[in-house]
Amino acid sequence: MARKKIIAGNWKMNMTPSEAVELINTLKPLVATEKADVVFCVPAIDIIPAMEAAKGSNIQIGAENMYFEEKGAYTGEISPAMLTDVGVKYVIIGHSERREYFAETDETVNKKVLKAFEHGITPIVCCGETLTQREQGVTIDFIRQQIKIAFLNVTADQAKTAVIAYEPIWAIGTGKTATSDQAQEVCSAIRACIGEIYDEATAEAIRIQYGGSVNASTAAELFAKPDIDGGLVGGAALKPDFGKIVNY
Ligand code: PGA
Repeated sequence: MARKKIIAGNWKMNMTPSEAVELINTLKPLVATEKADVVFCVPAIDIIPAMEAAKGSNIQIGAENMYFEEKGAYTGEISPAMLTDVGVKYVIIGHSERREYFAETDETVNKKVLKAFEHGITPIVCCGETLTQREQGVTIDFIRQQIKIAFLNVTADQAKTAVIAYEPIWAIGTGKTATSDQAQEVCSAIRACIGEIYDEATAEAIRIQYGGSVNASTAAELFAKPDIDGGLVGGAALKPDFGKIVNY
């Protein structure tokens, strides 16, 4: 069974609500395709206007983060029910920037992944090594540990619908894309790890993206690799170039 590609934009802390509407109106015709799932993960305050602007198009609006509790005294956080109430179906979990600047750990990532599934939201689970780890030769060990903890207590049926984003930290926002062979090597190891945790069918079904300086000229080669099912795109998702990436 062929996996459908999924190309997601990660807007990070960019775009005011009015800028978001403008960008979606610009990109709407450029990303129109049935061949891939197209998701824009946007800042929380942009979600509702982005949903409105994307209405009638193939663009799905996702979130960049959510909390792992249902509700309550967690000032500043956004709950899963707040997301589902407005129709959000995807949420990025454990982006390396959240791990680095907001103290997220493999354990909180696991809690968030479980909570997302509980609410029927598809998590885009991020993993990725630092440059030091790559140079030390521990990339695959490190990623396997991130994946194993992120998927603790997640059922096979849930895991089949999950998305994993492999994003080497040294490639994020640096203009230094991993080579397609480097990306394929790790994505294939992630799929093997899912196969060990669950089974062959789950490994075959789960979608694995590459992220880190993906642009219009690198997308085609990356997405042609057998274990790369699309991309998580930061900088280039804010430009008309995103249309070229989606239509690689
Ligand atoms: P980048 O970001 O494409 O700007 O490198 C990717 C990401 O962090 O998801």
